[in-house]
Amino acid sequence: FHFAAPANEPVYSYAPGSPEKVALKKQLSAFKAQQADIPMYINNQEIRTGKTVDLRPPHEIKHKLGHFHMGEAAHINDAIAAALAAKEQWAATTWEQRAAIFLKAAELIATKYRYHMNAATMLGQSKNAYQAEIDSACELIDFLRYNVHFLSEIYKQQPVSSPGVHNRTEYRPLEGFVLAVTPFNFTAIAGNLPASAAMCGNVVVWKPADTQVFAANMFMQIMIEAGLPAGVINLIYVDGPKLGEICFSHPDFAGIHFTGSTAVFQHMWQTIGQNINKYKAYPRIVGETGGKDFVLAHSSADADVTAIALARGAFEYQGQKCSAASRAYLPSNIAEAVKARLLAELKTMKMGTVEDFSNFINAVIDERSFNKIVNYIENAKKDPAAKIIAGGNYSKTEGYFIEPTVIEVSDPKYVTMCEEIFGPVLTIYTYEADKFEEIMNVVDSSSAYALTGSIIAQDRYAIDLATKKLVNAAGNFYINDKPTGAVVGQQPFGGARASGTNDKAGSMLNLYRWLSARTIKETL
Ligand code: SER
Repeated sequence: FHFAAPANEPVYSYAPGSPEKVALKKQLSAFKAQQADIPMYINNQEIRTGKTVDLRPPHEIKHKLGHFHMGEAAHINDAIAAALAAKEQWAATTWEQRAAIFLKAAELIATKYRYHMNAATMLGQSKNAYQAEIDSACELIDFLRYNVHFLSEIYKQQPVSSPGVHNRTEYRPLEGFVLAVTPFNFTAIAGNLPASAAMCGNVVVWKPADTQVFAANMFMQIMIEAGLPAGVINLIYVDGPKLGEICFSHPDFAGIHFTGSTAVFQHMWQTIGQNINKYKAYPRIVGETGGKDFVLAHSSADADVTAIALARGAFEYQGQKCSAASRAYLPSNIAEAVKARLLAELKTMKMGTVEDFSNFINAVIDERSFNKIVNYIENAKKDPAAKIIAGGNYSKTEGYFIEPTVIEVSDPKYVTMCEEIFGPVLTIYTYEADKFEEIMNVVDSSSAYALTGSIIAQDRYAIDLATKKLVNAAGNFYINDKPTGAVVGQQPFGGARASGTNDKAGSMLNLYRWLSARTIKETL
């Protein structure tokens, strides 16, 4: 069975007056009225513990959307046991049958639950309609379809045989269970981390971020409707450290598929290392862990192209993309023009709830995140080495709102040029236009991360130079574009250094990590 490369799922525009907009608005109202009672799923059974946590839209914290049920240690053990019990049958399920389930899930999202997925992501994670559409509809659908395609490509790869000898490679799933720990900022990533491992024949315990439970639950329901057998993916809402303690000391722990913070990932890696004698097999460790993504403009850059790359790259989804542009290096000859256009663009970006589709900026995810971002802004306000040239105001009365903020600095190693903030804050440094070589060294050495970055230039020589010189500074490198918005199947996504293991989500490289090949030689 070979599944050809699919087309990317078309993006709905939700233009004023469009039937799509009417339908999405209706779903938003329905969710707001409903008071969701969200269970965990172990063995495809709904589990309600009675120990509940309220869900509130980050942009409207006085409104309760409903609640979800928190699990305890026993539920973690139950989820592992359910996964292991389902393992043998799932691994023996034919590839065609497995693929059909994920393709059905993609179809259900595309045709039946698109507005559910988008409305859940908009309300739960404070994404505007367009940002939700490209995430919880298009990217998630693309992950499901493309991974079926990529996996069918992998299965095709076989060794050569010779007279009297038949050789083949069997792409087994890993021995044990895979743990998926997923982030709030992309519903597509949250769905893809358990789904891609499961597609390869693995069984999974899935813990989403507490702030993404609304949409995660919706995806789980869709997977069950698509025919996912009981126990293959078990969705639990539990304390992170408790989850690590139990999973990382389990002999059947086979791998972690993670997107989240560097600190958490490093702690996981250390714990796995300490427990290495406990496991049947070496666990696979796959993680994507953040970025400090740059936009470097050359003196030949178009000022408008640079400004738009910054406006969109830094502020879409409030800068809460691990790929978000957060440090800009502008050459002195165009710096003033870029800043003027950028500031003009920011004036057009309305901030408010997701229900008013004209709002470009919504709220940041939660109070912890709000406080962390505000702290960077307040420190910059007090520091003579930094100047806030746009935004800088914030409020958490109605929701966690922070204005798109631009800080200008005189030191390219200023703290907000180096540390990940994960919010709507862009820092700009202007360099002498003839010091391009020197500034590339600064770009390369200012941050521990290496996820995404952009070069903006019209001069081919400068593009070539930056592409070569910044070879290890970004896993996704963009020429004359913003550093965000990788499309599945077009730009496989991931970074190295402190940004992760660079196992490129939405590619064969990622799927290989969830397979353990067996070579079979048969003498004829
Ligand atoms: N894949 C997203 C992007 O490219 C980030 O996770 O923006």
